[in-house]
Amino acid sequence: IGNYSSGKMGYALANQLAMRGAQVTLVSGPSSLKIENPLVKLVKVESAQQMYEQCVAIFPTVDGAIMSAAVADFTPADPQPEKIKRKGDELILALKATKDIAAELGRIKKSNQLLVGFALESQHYEENAIKKLASKNLDFIVLNKAGQEGVGFNVDTNQITIIDRQNKQTVFSLKSKVDVAEDIINHIESHMNC
Ligand code: CTP
Repeated sequence: IGNYSSGKMGYALANQLAMRGAQVTLVSGPSSLKIENPLVKLVKVESAQQMYEQCVAIFPTVDGAIMSAAVADFTPADPQPEKIKRKGDELILALKATKDIAAELGRIKKSNQLLVGFALESQHYEENAIKKLASKNLDFIVLNKAGQEGVGFNVDTNQITIIDRQNKQTVFSLKSKVDVAEDIINHIESHMNC
């Protein structure tokens, strides 16, 4: 199973899968987190484009993928190799959109593969998550409600709702990211033939 991430959630998911005997490839952006389980193969990337290339190459070889990385939606259009010197009172940077990795995997997904995405939403939570589930052809989406206490990037806890393709919603309580990872993998496992 593949797992595309760079944060605590991705490492916790990879660990949880490996603890259950799954062979995991963790595609991760720069992170100080470590993973000890020999069942986890770590593939390090430094840009959204590299993550896209690795994920597209690996996906056909796995039973499923969990997309937990908060991929930047935009990247500088014209990256500079040297320091940008101060000039004038403002700096306008041109940005271009990154490739949507989850959407591409959703497009090439085979019927026996599982694709799980995340949705970080700040408003119209369920409605937006359901739109993402459909547009990226996911099997489940893990909804995070931004702005709520204990939810987000710099905390160790998370509160999630898992939504499936029939729009069935399973709400979980606020808990540590390690326990959230366990809930997600339990949920996936109970819906997979393994
Ligand atoms: N994702 C991805 N590639 C991107 C952006 C997002 O694979 N370039 C994945 C994330 O890993 C997540 C899902 O798509 O599983 C939803 O990401 P999110 O940031 O919530 O939404 P976006 O699709 O970026 O849409 P928006 O920012 O407009 O809400």
